[in-house]
Amino acid sequence: MTTILVTGGTGTLGRLVTERLRAAGHEVRVISRHSEPYAVDLREGGSGLDTALAGVETVVHCATTQRGGDERSAANLIAAAKRAGVAHLVYISIVGVDRVPLGYYRSKLAAEKLVEESGLGWTVLRATQFHDLVVQMLQALAKLPVALLPGHVSDQPVEVAEVADRLAELAAGPPAGRVPDMGGPQVRTFESLARAYLDATGRRRAVVNVPLAGKTYRALREGGHLAPEHAVGKGTFEEYLAARFGGGRDGRRG
Ligand SMILES: NC(=O)c1ccc[n+]([C@@H]2O[C@H](COP(=O)([O-])OP(=O)(O)OC[C@H]3O[C@@H](n4cnc5c(N)ncnc54)[C@H](OP(=O)(O)O)[C@@H]3O)[C@@H](O)[C@H]2O)c1
Repeated sequence: MTTILVTGGTGTLGRLVTERLRAAGHEVRVISRHSEPYAVDLREGGSGLDTALAGVETVVHCATTQRGGDERSAANLIAAAKRAGVAHLVYISIVGVDRVPLGYYRSKLAAEKLVEESGLGWTVLRATQFHDLVVQMLQALAKLPVALLPGHVSDQPVEVAEVADRLAELAAGPPAGRVPDMGGPQVRTFESLARAYLDATGRRRAVVNVPLAGKTYRALREGGHLAPEHAVGKGTFEEYLAARFGGGRDGRRG
C-alpha cells in the first residue's frame, strides 16, 4: 500500500483515478480548492499543501484551472513535494501542447517542463480530449439554431475512464518519464461528432462548417492535437453517447 495524493481528485478525471487507487488498496488523499480536509488552492500553495503532502510517496497531478495559473500551481506543488520527499510525480497533459498555440496549452507545456526538471521521479502522460469535453463543446455550439463548427478540424476523443485506468497504473508503478500518448479509437471530423451528438440527443440543427483564421486554427486543422499513431482507446463516441443519453430516440435520458 502506498500513500498517494491526487490533486483535482474531485474533477472529471481525478475522481475516477481516486476511485481506482482506493480500490487497489492505496491510502489516497485528495486536494482541491473545496475538498476537506485538504482544501488547498494550488496557485497559492501554503501550509495546507505541506500538511496534505506529509508522508506521501506518490502524487498524481490532475488539478487544472481553466482560467489560468496551472504553471504556478505546478511550481508550488513541486516545491512542496520536494520538501516532503515525494518519490514519484505523475502528470496528465494533453496531446499537442507543443504544437497548438493556445494559452491553456502553453501553460500545460510549461508545467510539463517543470515536472521534468523537478529532480523528482516523474511520469507524464498526454491524452486527447475526453468524450465529456467534446459533448460540453457541442452543447455550447448547439445553443444556436445553426451549429457553427470549425471547418476541416477533426478530433480523437477518448473515454476518460480508460485514461483513469492508465494513470492509476502509472501511479502504482515506478517513474517512467514521458510515456506514449493516449488517443481515442477514431479520428473524426467535428461535423461527424456533431451529427452523432445531435442524433443521440434528438436535437435538430443545421450544421455549418466555418473556416477560421489564425495560427491556432491552422495547427488544429493540421491535426496538431491528434495522435492517430496512438489510437489505443477502446470506447467510441457513440458508446459514450448511448451510455449518457440513452440508446435510441425513445430511450433518451436527456
Ligand atoms: N478534459 C479533457 O478533455 C482533457 C484531455 C486531456 C488532458 N486533460 C487534463 O486532465 C486534467 C484533469 O482534467 P479534468 O477535465 O478532469 O478537469 P476538471 O474536471 O475541470 O477538474 C479540475 C479539478 O481541479 C481542481 N482545481 C481546480 N483549480 C484548482 C486549484 N487552483 N487548486 C486546487 N485544485 C484545483 C477542481 O476542484 P475545485 O474546483 O474544488 O478546486 C477539480 O477537482 C487536466 O490537467 C487537463 O488538462 C483533460
